[in-house]
Amino acid sequence: MKKITIAIDGYSSTGKSTIAKQLAKALGYVYVDTGAMYRAVTLYAIRKGFVSETSEDFDSLIAALPNINLKFVHNEKLGFSEMYLNDENIEKEIRTLAVSSQVSKVAAVKEVRTKLVEMQKAMGKEKGIVMDGRDIGSVVFPDAEFKVFMTASPETRAHRRYKELLDRGDDVTFDEVLKNVRSRDHIDSTRKESPLILSKDAIEFDNSDMGLIEQFERMHNYALRIIEKQ
Ligand code: DC
Repeated sequence: MKKITIAIDGYSSTGKSTIAKQLAKALGYVYVDTGAMYRAVTLYAIRKGFVSETSEDFDSLIAALPNINLKFVHNEKLGFSEMYLNDENIEKEIRTLAVSSQVSKVAAVKEVRTKLVEMQKAMGKEKGIVMDGRDIGSVVFPDAEFKVFMTASPETRAHRRYKELLDRGDDVTFDEVLKNVRSRDHIDSTRKESPLILSKDAIEFDNSDMGLIEQFERMHNYALRIIEKQ
């Protein structure tokens, strides 16, 4: 059967990666989490002192971009790929609030986006891919056969992220997480470079009151119908 490209965009903590992983597994497709790539560049920038709560030195970050090597390595045990920065597994570190609170700033830098978008386009050349992010249907794969735009209320999303962080043992408050969700929504949708937008040909999917099983079944059926039509 002909393979398609599935682009999943939407606000932070809408469960994009959960549904993307499930769809990739069910269809035998590759899954790519582009947020992890922006997080990896952000971690590099924090470590080098290029960004912090109070300062930004984007010129130095841009100059250092050729030194940033990113790759996904499949972890057989976990059943998904993990993000590596210059050969170091940084999968855990990129999910901390310290990285979340800086990532939208870094993701707004044009040169960072150019580098990562080029990598993402190359990964999807053969189709048979599910990619999630903010600009997948609009910039990375404007011709994707199946585009989804995920939404849920900020409170629902903050609750999900808060629980995830607590489960991992992070010391955070709900208010901090909600503030981060709202601030990332704002920066991601109002930035000059490839803002998060609802493409005309994307289906909007609000999962505030939807369970994971129902969500998967709906999306899977949708994908199968599109694949059959190819
Ligand atoms: O999906 P996520 O929360 O891990 O993404 C982290 C940040 O990276 C998000 O706040 C915006 C940015 N991002 C982006 O600008 N474009 C993408 N394709 C993916 C993520």
